[in-house]
Amino acid sequence: MTTKNFQQALNEEFSQQTYGENPPELYEPIRYLMSLGGKRLRPMMTLMATALFTDDWQKAVKPASAVEVFHNFTLMHDDIMDNAPLRRGKPTVHEKWNANIAILSGDVMLVQAYELLMEVEDSRFKKAMKRFNRTAAEVCEGQQLDMNFESRENVTEAEYLEMIKLKTSVLLGYALELGGIIGGASDKSCELLYEVGINIGLGFQLKDDLLDVYGDPEKFGKQVGGDIISNKKTYMLIEAIEKATGETKESLNYWLNAKEFDNAEKVKAVTEIYDKLGIKQLAEAKINAYFDKGLECLAKLKVEDERKTELKAFAEMLIDREV
Ligand code: IPE
Ligand code: IPE
Ligand code: MG
Ligand code: MG
Ligand code: MG
Repeated sequence: MTTKNFQQALNEEFSQQTYGENPPELYEPIRYLMSLGGKRLRPMMTLMATALFTDDWQKAVKPASAVEVFHNFTLMHDDIMDNAPLRRGKPTVHEKWNANIAILSGDVMLVQAYELLMEVEDSRFKKAMKRFNRTAAEVCEGQQLDMNFESRENVTEAEYLEMIKLKTSVLLGYALELGGIIGGASDKSCELLYEVGINIGLGFQLKDDLLDVYGDPEKFGKQVGGDIISNKKTYMLIEAIEKATGETKESLNYWLNAKEFDNAEKVKAVTEIYDKLGIKQLAEAKINAYFDKGLECLAKLKVEDERKTELKAFAEMLIDREV
């Protein structure tokens, strides 16, 4: 089954989802954000994982869409928290409407994600739900750590990795695991799929942090430099803090402690520090290492190799993404 079929099935599913009507302020933002699409990686991962174990992957389409609706809910709230002006090349919901609307629309999206997850067949529902709940709570834990770290001076690499595992990787892990659960995979295979997702997810968030600095604003669809503006403790910044010496260190400290500054000027200055310290290359090596680890876990999965081709290609495509 080709990626195209999965994509087509998801497009059909999303185009027929309705979300609700009244009051329009509650439901319109959901239609808005969902219609902007995005890469829809997570539901794709669920379908690919189900197809590892059964040809009847169509039964995973609605539950897969639950993961995507949940993801979009987290983005709606994340953009408030990150004070982000742009998402998928368009104004964020809190910018286009306001923060209260983004909070409540996001809340109802979480409910809708549950509704869609109820489409998992009875015998597998409890496990799917239990793992979903754990994952959703962990995403919140990661988001809170991300916030806490903004105002902390010294965050270690290990703390950063734990934070991104929670805010991002666990959902990619769950997306694959859910596919396994629906496909009737053994517990062992489900755990391995989760590990694949965790490692790919770590590489994925590291790449997101890299693109936040070095992405092409036209393609990226988000404000480039947003992480620098808010002192996000990304891998890039943590490495720069550790590696900078002398004047470079002074300059970095100046920008990290500046209370009032011109956004573009700060982004330019900190990016130049990263350039000088070779941070991009360090991040790229780390990204590759996590993707490789994810692929190693996939190789261990007891499924014929030819069934894995698509998922493998998909992971490889993610390493080079520019969006
Ligand atoms: C953005 O996720 C949030 C992160 C976890 C980095 P995606 O990069 O998957 O966003 P969309 O859904 O494709 O827009
Ligand atoms: C997002 O991390 C993680 C979640 C939404 C849970 P980011 O804040 O880096 O995501 P983007 O860059 O806004 O998409
Ligand atoms: Mg964030
Ligand atoms: Mg954000
Ligand atoms: Mg980001």
